[in-house]
Amino acid sequence: FALVLAACGGGSGAKSSEDYTKENPLVIKFSHVTAIDSVKGKSADYFAQLVDEKTDGRVKVEVYPSSQLYGDADELDALMSGNVHMIAPSVTKMVKLDPRWQYVDMPFLFQDAEHVQAFFDSEVAQSLFKADALASNDIMGKAFWPNGFKNFSSNKNPLVKPEDFAGQKFRAQAGKVLEAQFKALNAGSATISFGETYAALQQGTVDGTENPHNNFDTMKFYEVQKYYSTSAHGRLDYAIFVNKSFWEKMPEDLGKLVDEALAEATTYAQGLAADENAKSLEKIKSAGSVEVYEMSQAERDVLKEAMQPVYDEFADVITKELIDGIEALKK
Ligand code: LMR
Repeated sequence: FALVLAACGGGSGAKSSEDYTKENPLVIKFSHVTAIDSVKGKSADYFAQLVDEKTDGRVKVEVYPSSQLYGDADELDALMSGNVHMIAPSVTKMVKLDPRWQYVDMPFLFQDAEHVQAFFDSEVAQSLFKADALASNDIMGKAFWPNGFKNFSSNKNPLVKPEDFAGQKFRAQAGKVLEAQFKALNAGSATISFGETYAALQQGTVDGTENPHNNFDTMKFYEVQKYYSTSAHGRLDYAIFVNKSFWEKMPEDLGKLVDEALAEATTYAQGLAADENAKSLEKIKSAGSVEVYEMSQAERDVLKEAMQPVYDEFADVITKELIDGIEALKK
């Protein structure tokens, strides 16, 4: 009988809790694209450590950072097919499944980090996880992790006024909203995966990019960019997605501990992001290789006005429900 059970369980993932030991752990593969010392990298490693502690080594989270296993182009496919079990993409990249995730790219939609957190905690945010496009692709959304406000950089000239962007080409993460954002500034854009962005900036394939301080710092983009402006014109945030069948097949007791660890790692990520981004800005300034321009609110307001066409074009795609829902959470 034991043999039959073992045969049934073999390879299907439907093992029972006792089958997993320190020597023979349940392995969760977690792939991401940023550096080990980034906000996402540290939070992913902390999650792995918590899972190890809580399950006494019976569940092992293998974290693959820096696009070493899968990059932007293929991590979502790898999750759907179960080749990895967990990813934490910048939500922009979920545009492939549901265009509403581009809410995050709507210029100047979020006021500050508290506003972003209020959104993460809201029903409006949860509604994104309920989309059929996730479940039908065997994916489940579990949590939101913040990174920070994006800032523009370039090799051509300082970027402060809308006209400063004209004719330049920028690296974008994905999607039509970011394309429209650059178009509103009379600039072009190209979708380039995060792992290839340093080389694209170095080789001049693109003139500039946009990222939170922490990504700009931990990827050393300051080495290949001359000008950096604290525009804070949009957000870059993450959501944790897991392979649904894999998650649901975890023995209940272990799954509960893993979910507990994820909730704690989420609190950790949410506490870490703003501080790490502030530290990274100081590092970027002290690196000395990039000229940092600290933008005033009045200068940001001029950019905001110039980017209004993005709302005219995409408010319906993102949906009124989502945009108004986010606006309503502003303090
Ligand atoms: C980017 O591609 O710029 C970001 O999404 C990378 C990341 O995951 O923070």
